[in-house]
Amino acid sequence: MSSIHLKGVSRHYGAFAAVDDVSLDVEPGEFVTILGPSGSGKTTVLTMIAGLNQLTGGSIHIGGRDVTALPAAQRNIGLVFQSYALFPHMTVFDNVAFPLSVRGIGATETRRRVEEALARVRLDTFGRRKPSQLSGGQQQRVALARAIVFQPDILLLDEPLGALDRKLREEVQVELRRLQRSLGITTILVTHDQEEALSLSDRIVVLDHGKVQQIAAPQNAYLRPSNRFVADFLGAANVFEGRVGSDERSIVMDGGTVIPCGAAARRPGTPVTAILRPERLILAADEAIGIVPAMITESVYLGQFVRYHVETPAGPMIAVAPGGNNGFAPGARVSATWQPDDVWIVADGAAPPA
Ligand SMILES: Nc1ncnc2c1ncn2[C@@H]1O[C@H](COP(=O)(O)OP(=O)(O)OP(=O)(O)O)[C@@H](O)[C@H]1O
Ligand SMILES: [Mg+2]
Repeated sequence: MSSIHLKGVSRHYGAFAAVDDVSLDVEPGEFVTILGPSGSGKTTVLTMIAGLNQLTGGSIHIGGRDVTALPAAQRNIGLVFQSYALFPHMTVFDNVAFPLSVRGIGATETRRRVEEALARVRLDTFGRRKPSQLSGGQQQRVALARAIVFQPDILLLDEPLGALDRKLREEVQVELRRLQRSLGITTILVTHDQEEALSLSDRIVVLDHGKVQQIAAPQNAYLRPSNRFVADFLGAANVFEGRVGSDERSIVMDGGTVIPCGAAARRPGTPVTAILRPERLILAADEAIGIVPAMITESVYLGQFVRYHVETPAGPMIAVAPGGNNGFAPGARVSATWQPDDVWIVADGAAPPA
């Protein structure tokens, strides 16, 4: 189990900063996900850790050792990319054995290790097949077996599940997490899929334009985003703009509607933007008990969930509730309520126009 330590890591191409002053400490055995939109610098960070791309600033330590100038082949890193990159003419066994033959490991030891790696990804009986005889999910598990067979110090995964359809992706996600836990291997995964990041990781690093926006546990990044970008990237949100009330535990909107919130940590009168996640907005049939009255304008059945669009004095809002039988119909007059702590200030000042 190795730690990974990035200090002020940058990658400039001429005047363009693909990665800008990224610092990150990954604990031994931790599963960290780098999440960000296309072009935000995710792959660049990963390739610099792998030694496949030069830094233009900063340093990288793996397991306490400065690897900044070390060639890729000497870093002992397991890598999996989006394209499976298996050798098509070789069997599954030979694909997984490849990193061992490169390292000059003998036949008996190779057989033992390949069998163990294939068992870990639950493909023990698939050794004699060719990649073309496997499903996409199975191919990606072979790629995983190949990445762990030589007992790497760390595992780096760049959108490894991107080519899989949703159901398969969820299956391999569970498999991946199980594998990572059982090996206890320090892992960095890159994805632009927020659900994948939230469900798999110990911590998430949100990247935008090469810069770290937030490093936090999934629930904190989701409920307590450090800025509007993180709030929007991680999911839907109800947004409130107004000024901090005199009690410093409310936001007074332009029309006068008062939105109770957690400790604002700002002086009364400060203009702020706050968010409330749709799951945290609770609708009640009794019009009288809520914080604000609400009228259902639309109800969208999503199987596990129902999404309600409501009109309130604070503007249109969205609520997501478990998909039971006692739904509200459009036109119903209800009330909306929330825990004040779930209203989270994401920015000083008003949000820029969308
Ligand atoms: N060799 C290069 N020369 C110039 N610019 C580059 C080079 N390689 C990458 N970039 C730029 O650096 C930025 C970050 O690229 P990177 O591949 O790290 O993004 P990403 O977050 O992995 O995106 P995606 O989700 O699309 O894979 C992009 O704007 C890209 O165009
Ligand atoms: Mg990429």
